[in-house]
Amino acid sequence: MSTFDLIDHTIEAYCEAHTSPESELLYRLNRQTNLETVNPRMISDQLQGQFLTFISKMLRPERILEIGTFTGYSALCLAEGLTATGELHTIEVNVEYEDRIRKYFSQSPIEKQIILHIGDALQVVPKLDMTWDLVFIDAEKEDYMSYYEAVLPSVRKGGFILADNVLWNGKVVQEAVGNDRDTRAILAFNDHIQNDRRVRNLLLPFRDGIMIIEKL
Ligand SMILES: C[S@@+](CC[C@H](N)C(=O)[O-])C[C@H]1O[C@@H](n2cnc3c(N)ncnc32)[C@H](O)[C@@H]1O
Repeated sequence: MSTFDLIDHTIEAYCEAHTSPESELLYRLNRQTNLETVNPRMISDQLQGQFLTFISKMLRPERILEIGTFTGYSALCLAEGLTATGELHTIEVNVEYEDRIRKYFSQSPIEKQIILHIGDALQVVPKLDMTWDLVFIDAEKEDYMSYYEAVLPSVRKGGFILADNVLWNGKVVQEAVGNDRDTRAILAFNDHIQNDRRVRNLLLPFRDGIMIIEKL
């Protein structure tokens, strides 16, 4: 499968050079994730991290939900915009990441506002009796539709869902989808959102594509 470069590497480097740097904590987390985990490509990078922080700071959410913690980078970025009484709940199914996640969350000045749930998001979400201002979906691609349908009822009107990787490395516009289940799932998800009258949406061609969804 050929790769798809959404942004020219030189342009991307220029953007990174003109974007605020990561905090020291995020820098260390990013570095350790790259050195010590099997699939470090899953982490949000400096640009996406800053994007998430800016969105969160602009919205000032009281309740944020993240589906797919990995090592905690995007959770720490999103949490920066929380109100003083706000909470971010993040769900990770892989118990092997738990110690690393907790180690880095414990070094954040807003540690007490970040709540980690270890388990399958499809089982955890229905148990969280909360109204979300902002949701970040970044886990199993085949389950995007299920995560979306599970969270939408508890997103407040005017609240937002961000879904990552909706361009799936450009595979959404390549003809040879074949039996690639992840690509099929992302295609179905994007079409579902586009036809969903309950929301307004913008597919932002940033990094691997972020679907920004507003609940009407
Ligand atoms: C792309 S990574 C998340 C990256 C992270 N949000 C970041 O930006 O640094 C996806 C994560 O979702 C987790 N995951 C997959 N299926 C899940 C599920 N059903 N519930 C919760 N987490 C899940 C994976 O174990 C993996 O750590």
